[in-house]
Amino acid sequence: MPRLRALALLIVAIVARGGHADVQRQAITCATAQSPAPVADPDLYCIDLLPPLAIDGVGGVARLVPPASPFGIAVSPAGEMLYDVLFDLRDLPAPSALGAYTTFVAWAAAPQMNPLIKLGEVRNGTTRLGRVNLDRFLLIVTAEPTVGAASLANPAALTGRIVLRGTSAAMRMQPHDLAFFLAGLLEQKAATGGGGDHAAHQQAPAHGDASWTQPPMHPDVAMPPAFMSLRPDVAPYRPAPEDAPLARPRELLRLRDGAAIDLVAAPVRRVLFGRTVTMLGFNGQYPGPLIEVAEASTIVVRFTNRTGFETAVHWHGLRLDNRFDGAPHVTQDPVPPGGSFTYRVFFPDAGIYWYHPHHREDVLQDLGLYGNLLVRSREPDYFAPANREEVLMLDDLLVAESGPVEHGREAPTHALMGRFGNVLLVNGEPRWEAAVPRGEVVRLFLTNVSSTRVFNLSFQGAARMKVVASDLSRYEREAWVENVTIAPAERYVVDVRFDAPGDVRLVNRVRAIDHIMARFFDETHELGVVRVSDRPAAPDHGPSFARLRPNASVVADIAKFRRHFDRPVDRELLVTLRAGDLPFPLRPLMSYESVYRNPVEWTGTMPEMDWVATGRQVRWTLQDRATGRENMEIDWRFKVGDVVKLRLVNDRGALHAMQHPIHIHGQRFLVLSVNGVPNENLVWKDTVLLPTGFVADVLVDVTNPGKWMLHCHVAEHIETGMRMVFEVNK
Ligand code: C2O
Ligand code: CU
Ligand code: CU
Repeated sequence: MPRLRALALLIVAIVARGGHADVQRQAITCATAQSPAPVADPDLYCIDLLPPLAIDGVGGVARLVPPASPFGIAVSPAGEMLYDVLFDLRDLPAPSALGAYTTFVAWAAAPQMNPLIKLGEVRNGTTRLGRVNLDRFLLIVTAEPTVGAASLANPAALTGRIVLRGTSAAMRMQPHDLAFFLAGLLEQKAATGGGGDHAAHQQAPAHGDASWTQPPMHPDVAMPPAFMSLRPDVAPYRPAPEDAPLARPRELLRLRDGAAIDLVAAPVRRVLFGRTVTMLGFNGQYPGPLIEVAEASTIVVRFTNRTGFETAVHWHGLRLDNRFDGAPHVTQDPVPPGGSFTYRVFFPDAGIYWYHPHHREDVLQDLGLYGNLLVRSREPDYFAPANREEVLMLDDLLVAESGPVEHGREAPTHALMGRFGNVLLVNGEPRWEAAVPRGEVVRLFLTNVSSTRVFNLSFQGAARMKVVASDLSRYEREAWVENVTIAPAERYVVDVRFDAPGDVRLVNRVRAIDHIMARFFDETHELGVVRVSDRPAAPDHGPSFARLRPNASVVADIAKFRRHFDRPVDRELLVTLRAGDLPFPLRPLMSYESVYRNPVEWTGTMPEMDWVATGRQVRWTLQDRATGRENMEIDWRFKVGDVVKLRLVNDRGALHAMQHPIHIHGQRFLVLSVNGVPNENLVWKDTVLLPTGFVADVLVDVTNPGKWMLHCHVAEHIETGMRMVFEVNK
């Protein structure tokens, strides 16, 4: 009897142990791994690590964690996403059990094993290593003889024994002929008349396609010519008249407290790329007047609408009186063509802000209606000294050989990706130039006013750069940066010192994707040049520039909010898409491409596809996780003095998952964490970029009563639903 019981216990113990091991092995896949903090979508940012057949029982996952960055996302000057890798490994045997080995080493490698990056030693449990800057890569864990052994000393020769391996999500992209196959169907349907089906409808729109200007193809991406026959299902809009006055470069308006000005939105003629085109401007200027005021002042702006659309003017980032926020149907009736509205604009916070229409931004803002507001602090040494200031508005424009590509009259074109321009503009011009003495410190006030493009700016040459401020404040500490990543509607203040004589080019460098060939490639646009002379700067601000300033008053202001940082989330928004009746062949192409989505879609590589989806077919969505309500049905209420922790989740599962710059009106917020990684250098913001599949927690300082909008700042997304209103009561 006792022997039987002992046997039974032994069996139970073996079964339990086996079961336990199974549970452990299951628990360590990306699909099942638990984490107390929110993590980025595992499909894109977690890699299952599996052993070769000969080694059993070992398992692990590797999470891609973006390193801290003042811009929320960490990107190299070349536009590569940067990741640290958080390994979580289980059941690794002793290295000696596998041969003459003493340690395990993790590697990242491009598909052809070149480049090969040695990440470092790993063991059971979690290890954070970095840094990976590859578009697509393998992760490998090898058993190695000793630290300092051949394969460690010479990373080109990986000689250890492979214990675990996995592949990044981008490895799933494969070259495909699907686009050509679908283009064939498109041609067949056109030839047979199509019998009223969708493709045929796209072929022969009611509006007569002769008046649409075909978007230019991307120079580096081959697409089937049949796609060129696709047209949006809205009428093309072109501003009139063609003899509008010639626009002038913007003027600086230094306004005193209480000053009043007129602001007129009207057609202007621009000469761009040697061609005269009709666009829009404020007060006949491009960009609109640069308005400079002192912090805590108020100005009066009499706005008149001479465009063909109803509209209003929004004062982006200002915590002003709700009545003057310029959100049509929320804070005011839209101003009809020919109508006017008087705004009292209050500037409570120093920094760089901007104004733009808040209706059909996809047309009005894209055609040139934007201007900056430069709010001077009352503190004399708010910023460190600089020799000069440059206020730069970054934009892009979609232009074909025959002229600009029209906008949708009844609804936006480019409703999925947003309209990517093929030419980049600085202050409305294709080229920016400055001439500075050697050693000058230049302060750049940057605003991204494009519809959808995230810029990744850097200087090529002898220039050092530090970021000092963003939307509504300075940073807790200044930080050295090599490049500036700026999403639509964001602002950054960056000090640059040009150390040596010569030409320094300002470039936008990103990684573009050719989905058909499953290939990443470099896209570099030159935005301008700084000509640095041999004359030394006077005065020389070199010593103060060399120092990274802490900003004690910002730290003290933010300290008051720290007790809220770790508390539970109050509200959660899922950022997603309801795609309706998409024109053929968009849906099959989107589905195919959705195996991989870049964290940020930097540029438009399929212009002949991107413009066809219109606001009639697409509904971008903010969904309140607690109630399931969406967009304008959401009715959040807060009180002045509330501090609200808001979680933003970008739905990787959406048919066209992409990044969204989320903007909140009339308040300020801190980005507490991205994918659960706490932000160590805080700054007050009004817009945060939420990359594909990312989760961000933001802390909103609710100070300003009224009805305020929260929306995506991609012009085509706000116009196709992605907006909501919350109410703040006293
Ligand atoms: Cu630039 Cu609703 O804002
Ligand atoms: Cu705004
Ligand atoms: Cu969006």
